[in-house]
Amino acid sequence: MDLLLVGSGGREHALLKALLKSPEVNKVYVLPGNAAMEGPRVKLAPIQPTQITEIADYAVLHQVDFAVVAPDDPLALGAVNELEASGIPAFGPTQAAARIESSKAFAKELMKKYAIPTADFRIFSDRREAAAYLRECPLPVVVKADGLALGKGVTVAATREEALHALKDLMEVRKFGASGDRVVIEECLEGPEVSVLCFTDGKTVRPMVSSMDHKRALDGDKGPNTGGMGVIAPNPFYTPEIARECMETIFLPTVRAMEQEGCPFRGCLYFGLMLTKDGPKVIEYNSRFGDPETQAVLPLMESPLLPVLLACRNGTLAETETRFSSRYACTVVQASQGYPGAYAKGAAFTMPRDGKDLVYYAAGVARADKKDPKKGLVTSGGRVACVTALGDTLREAVESAYAHVDEIRFENAYHRGDIGQRALKGE
Ligand code: AMP
Ligand code: GLY
Repeated sequence: MDLLLVGSGGREHALLKALLKSPEVNKVYVLPGNAAMEGPRVKLAPIQPTQITEIADYAVLHQVDFAVVAPDDPLALGAVNELEASGIPAFGPTQAAARIESSKAFAKELMKKYAIPTADFRIFSDRREAAAYLRECPLPVVVKADGLALGKGVTVAATREEALHALKDLMEVRKFGASGDRVVIEECLEGPEVSVLCFTDGKTVRPMVSSMDHKRALDGDKGPNTGGMGVIAPNPFYTPEIARECMETIFLPTVRAMEQEGCPFRGCLYFGLMLTKDGPKVIEYNSRFGDPETQAVLPLMESPLLPVLLACRNGTLAETETRFSSRYACTVVQASQGYPGAYAKGAAFTMPRDGKDLVYYAAGVARADKKDPKKGLVTSGGRVACVTALGDTLREAVESAYAHVDEIRFENAYHRGDIGQRALKGE
């Protein structure tokens, strides 16, 4: 089979490595991919994830058998609709189903209508009304842009000033453009956070192992929010009892709700949960694999990935095995100093070799010279690469990830030193 994969980050590198394990895969075209993904069965092409017409044309031209769309933007733009309309079977939700991530207002109304536990909320399209509400609502309060905002559209405000400032950024300064024309203001929840990625074909739901992301840039959960600096899996706070409760009160009800709304969700549905004292509640849905959660979760998957992705597309997930190891994974991201703010690019970089229970994924890397492959790789992004280590215990996985993260070498590299520490304490 010839496959097409849309995206370029560490998540896509993890999907690529997992897909290449299937011997029936002849070739994977990655749009646009990153230079560390190149290999005998891999071809990169410079088409951006948002160029959905070009993506579909490329898939048709190369007679691709199956496409996997990983990032949020192309899903929200309808890349899967476009591919399917061109006769290319594709993994991922349609544009209508992707609203579960691309519109927080849609997601919140859905949860309210179907009694899926989540934080209480109000939706505003009028700035004055939103401001008036923020002047009298209980604190702390959470202010969210309705639309996609590169993971930066959420403010947990302890004071009214902070909340009003966040509102101003969204609705007046329009920091995230049209994404902030509507805002969701919600109750602040407390408790450990858990990410659960689920395969679904629109009816059957198969959760992958749970995980814990570490979103802040600095140790001790300090500093600005990033795309994610490290992950451990499984998440020790997510017990089998809680998993059963989530399946009954959150996962299945969500998938049934999407079907009832006429937009069945097929693909990877990501549940960002908070385990509150009143039970698990949804913080956010993502319509795709998480980054960097995928880099920790997929190495624990024992069944081959390709048949599962095909089953999600074809509606046959109930008959398909999705088996995970009972071991542990820890992923540590090596970033460019300064990320998520300004950082230097162009530092020399070599991709370390995978070993036993050890796998490296690249995100922000490029060829030093596009015309001369001998010149090697350089850094080109904030999150440059990550290492995932597996172990028989969480501690072993964490220690091994830290013993190897500095094999990802480049000038001014930095990583958090405490990935997994909260989980180890909570175990
Ligand atoms: P999101 O972009 O929706 O993932 O939100 C980013 C982060 O903001 C989450 O991972 C939580 O840590 C925090 N957050 C979002 N909503 C809430 C809430 N209702 N209560 C407390 N924290 C929240
Ligand atoms: N790691 C969080 C996300 O993928 O949105």
